[in-house]
Amino acid sequence: MSTLFHKLMHGFSADLFDGFECVVGYGDAQGVGVSIQGVHKYFGDKHVLKGIDLEVQPGETFSIIGPSGTGKSVLLKHIVKLINPDQGQILIGGQDVYAPPNDEPTNYRYSMVFQTSALFNSLTVGENVGLWLRENRICKESRIKQIIAEKLRMVGLEGTESMMTYELSGGMKKRVAIARSLAMSPNLILYDEPTAELDPVTSDELARVIIDLRKSMNMTSIIVSHDLNFALYLSDRVAMIHNGEIVEVGTPAQIKASQNPLVRDFIYTTTKGIKGD
Ligand SMILES: Nc1ncnc2c1ncn2[C@@H]1O[C@H](COP(=O)(O)OP(=O)(O)OP(=O)(O)O)[C@@H](O)[C@H]1O
Ligand SMILES: [Mg+2]
Repeated sequence: MSTLFHKLMHGFSADLFDGFECVVGYGDAQGVGVSIQGVHKYFGDKHVLKGIDLEVQPGETFSIIGPSGTGKSVLLKHIVKLINPDQGQILIGGQDVYAPPNDEPTNYRYSMVFQTSALFNSLTVGENVGLWLRENRICKESRIKQIIAEKLRMVGLEGTESMMTYELSGGMKKRVAIARSLAMSPNLILYDEPTAELDPVTSDELARVIIDLRKSMNMTSIIVSHDLNFALYLSDRVAMIHNGEIVEVGTPAQIKASQNPLVRDFIYTTTKGIKGD
């Protein structure tokens, strides 16, 4: 299986089982706070992130919006350790992601939902969702089956265990990818452009899935999107990034009322067509 997948399905393995036939510590994970402090990133001469500061609260649904090429995905990749910062720090649950103390195990799990869904085509839906649990022997087999059914139900795909990925629509694939992330019982879930390639109706359905998860689980969610309406609809707070800098942070109502010209411009172009039309 892909190494990228393993890197992002970041968790633990142990053989101590709890009363529910799973490894101790698996279960309804609490959300962790994410603190991004003064993060700079250069690619050659290109200064892509220019001192990013952000505080995401435990359990919060937080979106990062902004035009294409402004550094949203690069920022997300810093949080999941796919890209190292040139300067600055990132703390998850109070632990420094890039300088973990040697003797202290990571006390959180995170999972990322990719833009492409990144499902394994040779596996069924159920096998995709249960992969991490089985590979790491997190639960006994009978319990794994229950968890797969439960996570598929949470994303509105009850009973689809035996389907193959080629039988799924784009929106369904996205939801399977979310179910696969949920199966880890993550403290933090990250989405890169969840509505990319989805039509407006399917995007709305996906937004409702994420809103429902907010009610039923305690994890922290970070969503990167250029879909402003989607972000405003489902987020507790939204940050706008422009040209590698955070230009505004606030609740959806505060973002809508912002007088910052960069924010107003973004709202204008994404809701009323191309400026100048
Ligand atoms: N590995 C890399 N090497 C060199 N440059 C990179 C790399 N990754 C990203 N960049 C550059 O960093 C800038 C920000 O890219 P990023 O992917 O974060 O944009 P984005 O805001 O996610 O855009 P979009 O909305 O189109 O996904 C771009 O100019 C991109 O070319
Ligand atoms: Mg991107």
